Amino acid sequence: MSLHVVILAAGKGTRLKSGVAKVLHRAAGLPLIEHVLRAADPLGPESVVVVVGHQPEQVRDAVSARGGIQFAVQEPQLGTAHALLQTAPLLEGKTGHLLLLYGDVPLVRTATLDRLVAHHVERRASATVLTAHFDDPTGYGRIVRTNGQISAIVEQRDATEEQRRITEINSGIYVFDLESLFSSVRAIGSSNAQGEYYLTDLVRIYRERGLTVETSLLRDPAEIVGVNSRMELADVSRTLRDRKNEELMAAGVTIVDPATTWIHPGVQVGQDTVIHPNVYLEGGTRIGAGCEIHASVRIIDSTIGDRVMIHNFCVIRDSRIENGAEVGPFARLRPNSQILEGAHVGNFIELKNTVVGAGSKANHVGYLGDTTIGEKVNIGAGTITCNYDGYAKHQTVIEDGVFIGSDSQLIAPVRIGRDAYVAAGSSITKDVPPGALAIGRGTQVNKEGWVEARRARLPKKA
Ligand code: UD1
Ligand code: CA
Repeated sequence: MSLHVVILAAGKGTRLKSGVAKVLHRAAGLPLIEHVLRAADPLGPESVVVVVGHQPEQVRDAVSARGGIQFAVQEPQLGTAHALLQTAPLLEGKTGHLLLLYGDVPLVRTATLDRLVAHHVERRASATVLTAHFDDPTGYGRIVRTNGQISAIVEQRDATEEQRRITEINSGIYVFDLESLFSSVRAIGSSNAQGEYYLTDLVRIYRERGLTVETSLLRDPAEIVGVNSRMELADVSRTLRDRKNEELMAAGVTIVDPATTWIHPGVQVGQDTVIHPNVYLEGGTRIGAGCEIHASVRIIDSTIGDRVMIHNFCVIRDSRIENGAEVGPFARLRPNSQILEGAHVGNFIELKNTVVGAGSKANHVGYLGDTTIGEKVNIGAGTITCNYDGYAKHQTVIEDGVFIGSDSQLIAPVRIGRDAYVAAGSSITKDVPPGALAIGRGTQVNKEGWVEARRARLPKKA
């Protein structure tokens, strides 16, 4: 049976007090709606339709990169039933089931959705409502039952005193049979406290039409919390952080202080890697086994091998570090940098678009940009590649076994041949042949007795 997913994302989110549409606010590095899409992905839906309304272009741009998503525009926003009705031109006449989700309810799990759909199919229901028990159900629609069967959903504002005491609530997530859906949605009116078209009225309409409505009880009510304020956004971020940290710890990763360790959902970390406090691992970062990531390191979209040591306060973006390498403290790897096996990049080194070959060392202070460094090279303290002439970027090549003396400038384009030496303090403007010593600095002159002679020339101090 084919499954179609609809995600309502037209709301403005007034209480966020934001110029950004609600579903585009980020938690764990991803827009809220992306979490919902990821939860639905493994169900293999035949189609995914997002209902946009507030800032439709921005919402569209944020998710269209993943492809295959259709959009329906709801303008103005007249309620949840009205929102769903906007998908009729795309879905009416199709067969199968429709799973309805909200773009601002990002914690829902795939397993929960799977169970909901399975329950719906098994019971041959026309609609199945995902419900939960809340100690404090204030604000939610209440599940009204007659002889144990769901007979209506009553919104908080329309509920009687007695109905408000019901603790079983409507999560707002449903599965519908497509066949009976849209004709029933069209029968929904707007005579309620808010003058909106309530999707929850479907339960009553289905009952009148003799269609079966089922419920499925959510095991972990925390999954359906929505984001309506910045406070709830922070809560959701914390939950996502805890989930990821727990998953990694269960898989054999040591996280010294989970409360201050923020790892995005897509990140992979190998066994026996130790992660210290205040570490941020972001985007598609992959970290191997047996690594140690010290405090206050941020790694974005990078690949780290096994047994890599990253000391405190490094920022690493779009880069690759191979097995056994050592980086930092205070190193910055800008995009497209590679530190090959066993290489060391130490404190206050900045790399950009640079390869540091296997076993090579650049340990103290320097900028290496647009540079290819071979194996077993020693880059002295304070080495700068002058890769930019104010107009274009140029390459520096440092072949295997080279020794660059401290405080040298390599003015690109330039090539330092295999095993060559560059004397400390050199400004290198021409290629250095293999095995040569290049000295590019003013010759030192020592003037013997100069201090004494000067003193004799000058008048005595008072
Ligand atoms: C809705 C349910 C309520 C349930 C609760 C769970 C209705 C009438 N009520 O209430 O029973 O307990 O969710 O959170 O359905 N949206 C649109 N277009 C609209 C209106 C809403 O896209 O015209 C979207 C919102 O952006 C949001 C979602 O639908 O993502 C829910 O809307 P909201 O107004 O928050 O519904 P609730 O009042 O919370
Ligand atoms: Ca809501």
